[in-house]
Amino acid sequence: MQKGCFIVLEGVEGTGKGTLSLYLQQELEARNFKVFATREPGGKNCVVAEKIREIILDKNSNVLPLTEAYLFAASRAQHLREIIIPHLNKGEIVISERYVYASYAYQGEGRGLGIENIKKLNTLAIDNIIPDLVIYLDLDPKIGLERKFKARQDLDRMDRETIDFYNKVRNAYLKFAKENPSLIKMVDASKPLEEVKQRVLDLILEKINKN
Ligand code: TMP
Repeated sequence: MQKGCFIVLEGVEGTGKGTLSLYLQQELEARNFKVFATREPGGKNCVVAEKIREIILDKNSNVLPLTEAYLFAASRAQHLREIIIPHLNKGEIVISERYVYASYAYQGEGRGLGIENIKKLNTLAIDNIIPDLVIYLDLDPKIGLERKFKARQDLDRMDRETIDFYNKVRNAYLKFAKENPSLIKMVDASKPLEEVKQRVLDLILEKINKN
């Protein structure tokens, strides 16, 4: 039985998920909550999932789309059971940069494998563990990629897609947010960072106080 609160940050590249996660951890800890921040693919303290992350992101590997979908699901299965669920069971707030919604958007829509197929493929991996709240950070991929490339020169395998690919990913996220308004809250990530931080923190505090 989960006691904690499971928060997921989603969005295309360059939406500031890492910066936000750090900020949220500090703000929530300052309010005496115990917080565990992690990310997918891979995961904090999750050796097996981190090894899978290396294979997925290695720009020298020829990972086929279906293989990629299974690797993300395998990383998730391990990370969820070994790391996320035990922290939730301790009553902590777990913040994960990305979860299964990234697979629906990137592999289902971006790679064209089909969202229903990716849902099926992830059924066992997530075992009905739905987050308490998903924050979808919406941003034009053009702006996101510019931000990301400015901050980092070393591109991984997933960074080499066309703008058309990222537009498909964004449209999938927008569709999920529209279809699941109580679970997925959309935040405009083109706004100034301080505004985005405050909005996301408010949404999380509102959720925690309701739980
Ligand atoms: P990151 O840049 O957020 O660390 O994520 C690595 C890349 O993996 C990013 O391009 C998004 C992508 N990704 C998927 O394609 N499917 C998934 O299920 C996840 C978790 C990430």
